[in-house]
Amino acid sequence: MYVGADHAGVALKARLLAELERLGYRGVDVGATTAESTDYPDFAHRVARAVETGEAKRGVLVCGTGVGMAMAANRHPGVRAAVAWNPDVAELVRRHNDANVLTLGARVLDEEEAVRILERWLDAPFDGGRHVRRVHKIEEPG
Ligand code: RB5
Repeated sequence: MYVGADHAGVALKARLLAELERLGYRGVDVGATTAESTDYPDFAHRVARAVETGEAKRGVLVCGTGVGMAMAANRHPGVRAAVAWNPDVAELVRRHNDANVLTLGARVLDEEEAVRILERWLDAPFDGGRHVRRVHKIEEPG
């Protein structure tokens, strides 16, 4: 599982990496490593490229809101990055959107809630069925 963050998300990223390890996942930390100001797309592209190429099945990105990370990651073919602001949304972006990258907002989430969001996202399957057609259409702007 590739994990990245900018300066706003670096502390939450450390917590999420610890949780991933506790749950038996191998976390690959692409940075940032300090709270010094950084540019979120640099980290979004590292994680998204790993998912795009198949090097990673899924990834997690953290910035202030989760929004900039999702915008940048979603420029990569095959990447479906989704911001989740609560565990129910995290489950739905797996079940309906087959989100393979989770983005989180460190400035708008309590740390324990962020952990619950991560857990729900990890556990939820893609529902398939009618959602397969819709997910394919994401890659076909028409
Ligand atoms: C950094 O200040 C902030 O803009 C960034 O973390 C993120 O929220 C962007 O979407």
